[in-house]
Amino acid sequence: MTPPQLTEVEALELLAQHYGLTGQLVTLPGERDRNFQLYLAGGAKNTFKVVNAAVHLESLRTEIRAMQHLNSELGSIVPHPLADQAGHFISQGNLQNGSACWLRLQSWQLGIPLAEFRPHTPELFHSVGHLMGQVAASLSTLAVQDPHPELPWHPDQASEIIEAGIFLVNDPLLKNFLEQALRLYDRYGRPLETDLPRSLIQNDSNDYNVLVHGGLEGLAELSLIDFGDMVVSWTCAEAAVTLAYTLLGQISPWKAVQTTLSGFSQARPLSLQESEFVWPMALMRLGVSIVMAAKQIQDQPENKYLLISQQPIRELLQCLNTLSLEEGVARSRFACGHSCTHRKVSLETVLEKQMFSAVMGQALTPDNTLILPLGIESPSSNWLSGDVEEQSDRIQQAIESANKIFALGLYDEIRLCYTAPEFQQDLESRTVHLGLDVFGIAGTPIFAPLDGTFVTVHDNAQEQDYGPTLMLQHEDLGGESFFTLYGHLDPECLDLWQPGDSVQAGTRIAKIGTSPRNGNWPPHLHLQVTSHRMGWETDFPGVALPSEQSFWKELSPNPYRLLGIQQKSWVEPGGLPRDLLARRLHILGRNLSLSYKEPLTILRGKGVYLVDALGRRFVDCVNNVAHVGHCHPKVVDAQRKQSGLLNTNTRYLHPELIRYAERLCSLLPEPLNVCFLVCTGSEANELALRLAQVYTQAQGVVVVDVGYHGHTKSLIDLSPYKHNGPGGKGAPDWVRTTNMPDLFRGVYREHHPDPGSAYAEKVIEHAQSLATSRSGLAGFICESILSCGGQIVLPENYLQTAYAGVNRLGGLCIADEVQVGFGRVGKTFWGFELQGVVPDIVTLGKPIGNGHPLAAVITTAEIAEGFANGMEYFNTFGGNPVSAAVGNAVLDVIEEEDLQKHALTLGDYLLERWQGMSKWCPALGQVRGEGLFLGMEFVADSLQRVPCAARASYVVERMKAQGFLLSTDGLDHNVIKFKPPLVFPESEAERLCKNLEQILQEAPLQLTERD
Ligand SMILES: Cc1ncc(COP(=O)(O)O)c(C=O)c1O
Repeated sequence: MTPPQLTEVEALELLAQHYGLTGQLVTLPGERDRNFQLYLAGGAKNTFKVVNAAVHLESLRTEIRAMQHLNSELGSIVPHPLADQAGHFISQGNLQNGSACWLRLQSWQLGIPLAEFRPHTPELFHSVGHLMGQVAASLSTLAVQDPHPELPWHPDQASEIIEAGIFLVNDPLLKNFLEQALRLYDRYGRPLETDLPRSLIQNDSNDYNVLVHGGLEGLAELSLIDFGDMVVSWTCAEAAVTLAYTLLGQISPWKAVQTTLSGFSQARPLSLQESEFVWPMALMRLGVSIVMAAKQIQDQPENKYLLISQQPIRELLQCLNTLSLEEGVARSRFACGHSCTHRKVSLETVLEKQMFSAVMGQALTPDNTLILPLGIESPSSNWLSGDVEEQSDRIQQAIESANKIFALGLYDEIRLCYTAPEFQQDLESRTVHLGLDVFGIAGTPIFAPLDGTFVTVHDNAQEQDYGPTLMLQHEDLGGESFFTLYGHLDPECLDLWQPGDSVQAGTRIAKIGTSPRNGNWPPHLHLQVTSHRMGWETDFPGVALPSEQSFWKELSPNPYRLLGIQQKSWVEPGGLPRDLLARRLHILGRNLSLSYKEPLTILRGKGVYLVDALGRRFVDCVNNVAHVGHCHPKVVDAQRKQSGLLNTNTRYLHPELIRYAERLCSLLPEPLNVCFLVCTGSEANELALRLAQVYTQAQGVVVVDVGYHGHTKSLIDLSPYKHNGPGGKGAPDWVRTTNMPDLFRGVYREHHPDPGSAYAEKVIEHAQSLATSRSGLAGFICESILSCGGQIVLPENYLQTAYAGVNRLGGLCIADEVQVGFGRVGKTFWGFELQGVVPDIVTLGKPIGNGHPLAAVITTAEIAEGFANGMEYFNTFGGNPVSAAVGNAVLDVIEEEDLQKHALTLGDYLLERWQGMSKWCPALGQVRGEGLFLGMEFVADSLQRVPCAARASYVVERMKAQGFLLSTDGLDHNVIKFKPPLVFPESEAERLCKNLEQILQEAPLQLTERD
């Protein structure tokens, strides 16, 4: 059936005639109806539908009834039908070509089609499932006749349609899928057909019928349009249809199953039978669309678009091809809140109750077995990195020196050792160990724990795979079957056994293999059980994604009893406490903030990477403290070595300290050549303040707005970021605040002839007023690039003019280099050098010790002399030999790895790329910075430059979801700061830009939506 033919002019006439409305029309796509968007004079919008007269009036009435019913039960998640002048929701119209038609008007639904909306996140698909669960639950209370019993998309007819049309499909990928899907439906779907509840369903939640709106802050809102394909069928087919479409979205198939069905069943619980039916029915829906497309292609072979439109389905099937289709049944059951497989008694209980022959021929006990923690939080997890020979030696030596026979790697550990591509997914990779590992000498025999039959005898030969693998099927005491899996075996077992061979309990079935033949691991047995193979034939996952931990743990419980171990507590990994957040809130001060909506538990760091408790690897784009990279081996080594020799205070002579102070001073321009070592940036600024106040015998200081210089009482006084923020009490009378020299949103902007000098004059005015006040003028403190202020680069002439003015008035100039020093700004080693000035005092912190608490104040001999007024300066930890060794190591690495130059080239590259993005993304108001100290300022409106924190936070959270850690700053929290470890690799910079480019195009960031 095709849409009626009419012009917009004719449509307007019909509107005037039947509804008394005038406005402007825009044609919309439609398969059956001719649809228009109607703009009414007052700005309101409606949808006007001209429907083919061949459509049964009764089915249109059901549509209207369903929409009114959903509106009254669920609010405006579907359009409101609107009546004509006679009060009818369906009017009969006559077209100029002589044919009749039905007319309908309905309210306009806000949002853009799911197909066009990005990002497709798991949360969004959960919402889609939830929406359709609500719709299904609500429609199921409407008693109606099936409005379209003959519809080709009717779930009742899906398998027949595929069977009848499969001959039209030539593509082997599609054909093979259809055959498999039909088999699966026959096995799991068809037997349930007669028992499942039936009701009216919308039956067309495709990605053009689900509209998405918002999503910048909080979850996106959804609504549903198009009720023209409604049928009476199995209620749960609504979930299946929805799943078929979410499977085609930008998300992995099993995530689509989990999110869609858990969302659906939250709103309309699905019984166990229904949950089992959904997966094969979703495959049927996909199958019907393949067959329907094949029919169209046959009818119109010249239409190339038809082939292109099959691309998403082909991509999905290519992906499903690498998975086991049968697994979908278990996944669906689990997503709907049921157990993943049929069992009367759980496998865990069976393992606890039944007796087994010990797999290693003897029970593993604390006397013969060493527990080897390999979880992410354990230092011994490093044992499984590097050369496999070394790994084997380390483990064997540990076993021998503990006087044991075996070492046991534990179940349910999150491990970082699975580095082969097969384990990697997007941000998350497979890290959860689903079995037990028994490390021992290669050749150690392995025995069947119970009578059984081999179902797998296979060499999984890829790197980091199982190598030679056996799987046995057993029957438990209740007659239910389960499986035991043995990996990393000696290849001898491949000749010894064949699938179908039976063995008795206690039979020697294999021996521990050697590397590299065993998948290239240190010699060990991976032992696992599973209650179901879910269609996996030669292999079975031994490591799972953390987000799927509970699914896999239910299938594969801890197999410790097969090793003769009686006490479970002995083999339970220490793991991580799950209540860290609650405990932190209780035990640590509440105003110690945490980053991100969902805080991260970070356990490991290396270079630019941080790894969280789930083994997810994030690129750290914001920690300028880890200047030369997290856990740089050279710095760690220097610290470890010096810690083993001596750590004491500065009341003794020590070569490392003197060497460090000399080196540091040599990096600063004359006459800055006296150094004080302290432990934190706050301490450094506190000492700088004292130096200035003692030297000038005055108190007053000029500070820059939104600046932060430290957490002590006097530094809060110097930090408008704090004293003007929540909980602050404003500046005391000895502190004067000058404007940020911000050329983007400040009082003098880019078109001012000399904004730097203009802003500096403000500094001088404040200095002048302090100089004549009771407190007098001690000085001016300013960061060399404003960090908390929002990564603001000082305009030319700013410090030059300001310093000259302040010095003239008798004040000292302090450069706070805590954020930007040590080569970060690229062009120069220190930030203040960008301005061509020499400060009187420089404070250093953060990057100086790469994470070790070290900081410094450097000043002139004259100022230092003024400070030495008889009162001893003592600092228990400042300048201790360990800190000095660390400081020296950091300087070594900066030099050896030429990090300043890298900061310059990579920084320039990124700046250019992001500036390019700001040209097409109006939300990205400005990009700025120097070297690897960059900022992106987000605005609501590119002309007025109104700050928009929500956009900046959105990008931060979305980048986090892609594995990049960023954060926001600035007075309005609308600036994303980028200040990563300097060892930031070009490959990650490239990946970052690609992700950023995509995110900046996502729907919630756009200034206008389909409205
Ligand atoms: C510019 C600036 N100065 C000083 C400090 C204080 O350093 P710390 O936290 O090491 O005391 C900070 C800390 O964020 C800072 O950003």
